[in-house]
Amino acid sequence: MTPRIPRPRDELRVFTQYGARQTLDAIRLNANEWPEATPAGTYLTQADLDRVVLNRYPGAAAEIRQILSKQYGVQPDQLFFGNGSNDTIMQLFLVFGGHGRATLLFQPTYNLHGRFTVMAGGTLVNEMVGLPYRVEKERALAAAARVRPDIAAFCTPNNPTGTLIDDDVILAVAERHPETLVLVDEAYSDIPGRTLLPALPHHPNVVISKTFSKVHAAAGLRFGILVMHPALAEQMRQVAVSFNVGVLTYALAAKIARDEDAVRDRVAFVRRERERVFDGMRKVHGIEPFPSEANFILFRAGGDTAAAHQRFLQHGVAIRDMSPWTGCEGCLRVSIGTREENDRFLGALAAVFAATPA
Ligand SMILES: Cc1ncc(COP(=O)(O)O)c(C=O)c1O
Repeated sequence: MTPRIPRPRDELRVFTQYGARQTLDAIRLNANEWPEATPAGTYLTQADLDRVVLNRYPGAAAEIRQILSKQYGVQPDQLFFGNGSNDTIMQLFLVFGGHGRATLLFQPTYNLHGRFTVMAGGTLVNEMVGLPYRVEKERALAAAARVRPDIAAFCTPNNPTGTLIDDDVILAVAERHPETLVLVDEAYSDIPGRTLLPALPHHPNVVISKTFSKVHAAAGLRFGILVMHPALAEQMRQVAVSFNVGVLTYALAAKIARDEDAVRDRVAFVRRERERVFDGMRKVHGIEPFPSEANFILFRAGGDTAAAHQRFLQHGVAIRDMSPWTGCEGCLRVSIGTREENDRFLGALAAVFAATPA
């Protein structure tokens, strides 16, 4: 018999645990991580560790604040840090969303923007763009005029479609609705080398989200950043959870942020491999891969994607079944791995679906 225990609010009881399932003996191409190991010891020496003191609560994170404000071309007080961008974005939604407030999303897009809206107690309004994913300006403006959202979220390149959204689409919404908080999730934007950071001074309602989980190869560190107008950042600091990032994370993040050459190399590598994988996928009969600007490729296979996902696992390759995501019925998503992992994926793909000659 189930014991009588406290229950979450009704709208939260439909949620299932988020995150790619970790399969021990399969190669992991299911979470858009960086595939090569990043040992913490390559960044933090014993002497560095000795400078990190644990008895005090974290301070203002001056070092990482300084480095990133320079890289982003903003003032240090425009940055808000968190335990990964999931943490920063959730806190943003707690502060600016919530009861009686609406979030507008252009679907299919990053699942957690919708989840955080509901967790905060707000209302989610989905504008269904579909696949191929192209957010047109007229469409975005019409949806914003209809919904008058408190938050409008854009993800560019978009997860899971891999596509960019034109800057002027996002900025048109921001300009027309100065009281709407416009979130731009740039988790993958280093890969195409595009960013809306230069638009921040002219658009005080735009908030840009960054993460060290992708081409900074540090998903395990959990470090995310929001960049915004100083007045918005001040409101975040007044309300959000304090001391949400530890001193060890700040110390490591500062080292990783300085390693800009590594990021450049990773970006070059992932672009090359993504094109190779995409070309390989296009030769496979019965699937439709969507061109991507990120480190993953979405493809439509139709039919039973859970069964296809299972067959990939039998070949030792874990990819992501995207069917449960809004607007992604019949789709799977593969992350770009090492060269060898990508070869394994292409081999499994040919075995799972019927290959046709080029
Ligand atoms: C678009 C987007 N935003 C945010 C995240 C969360 O990243 P993290 O919490 O690791 O910074 C992800 C992770 O896959 C993502 O795809």
